[in-house]
Amino acid sequence: SYFAKPTKPLQGIKILVTAGPTREIIDPVRYITNRSSGKMGYALAESAAALGAEVTLISGPTALKPPAGVTFVPIETAQEMYEEVLKYFPDTNIVIKAAAVADYRPKIIYDNKMKKGDGDLVLELERTIDILKTLGEKKEKQILVGFAAETENVQAYATKKLKTKNLDMIVANNVKQEGAGFGVDTNIITIYTRNGEVMEYPLLSKQEAAKEILMKAATFLE
Ligand code: CTP
Ligand code: CA
Repeated sequence: SYFAKPTKPLQGIKILVTAGPTREIIDPVRYITNRSSGKMGYALAESAAALGAEVTLISGPTALKPPAGVTFVPIETAQEMYEEVLKYFPDTNIVIKAAAVADYRPKIIYDNKMKKGDGDLVLELERTIDILKTLGEKKEKQILVGFAAETENVQAYATKKLKTKNLDMIVANNVKQEGAGFGVDTNIITIYTRNGEVMEYPLLSKQEAAKEILMKAATFLE
């Protein structure tokens, strides 16, 4: 009817979501990784599809089932995530980087299982590429949404990332706060935007948080 609200507000919009941890290989039986269940990213992908968007989900290994109706691209390492993100980026309207990307990877990947010795082991690590920062340098009309999972100084760290990565908005949470940590179905988020807006939300389900994040991001589209 004339008064009906549109039920598919993100129809025609292409959204790229990254989720989960990355896995950086040490040898054929070992890797280093980050804490991330993937729940926030998968909730974003699912909500975006339900709101009518065309969704690509690029994800590290999680225990979750990819939501129906999204293009699912599984990856393991930060480098693989970077390469896949770059393929989709030119034809994307909104990028949401919920993934917990490893900042460092082993400098040497051993072809065979490392054998233990009697002494300590020192692993040399090198930096991975900052995917979001690279997108911030390349972006044309794309809207960039970052995440900042912090344990202290949340506002200062989050707003610094918003600026240095050239983002449109960043979603921050204090993972030490109950209900906002890892593996749970809820989150307590604050959104900081490029316009200096600060939006603090109460405890929400990750589905509710996802919808708020998506609808706010969509306001930046031209
Ligand atoms: N990010 C990324 N590529 C990386 C590291 C982080 O794209 N190599 C993205 C994350 O997906 C997130 C945002 O950058 O959306 C912030 O990640 P975070 O780990 O909080 O910040 P860093 O810049 O890595 O800084 P630090 O870990 O030192 O806090
Ligand atoms: Ca990091």
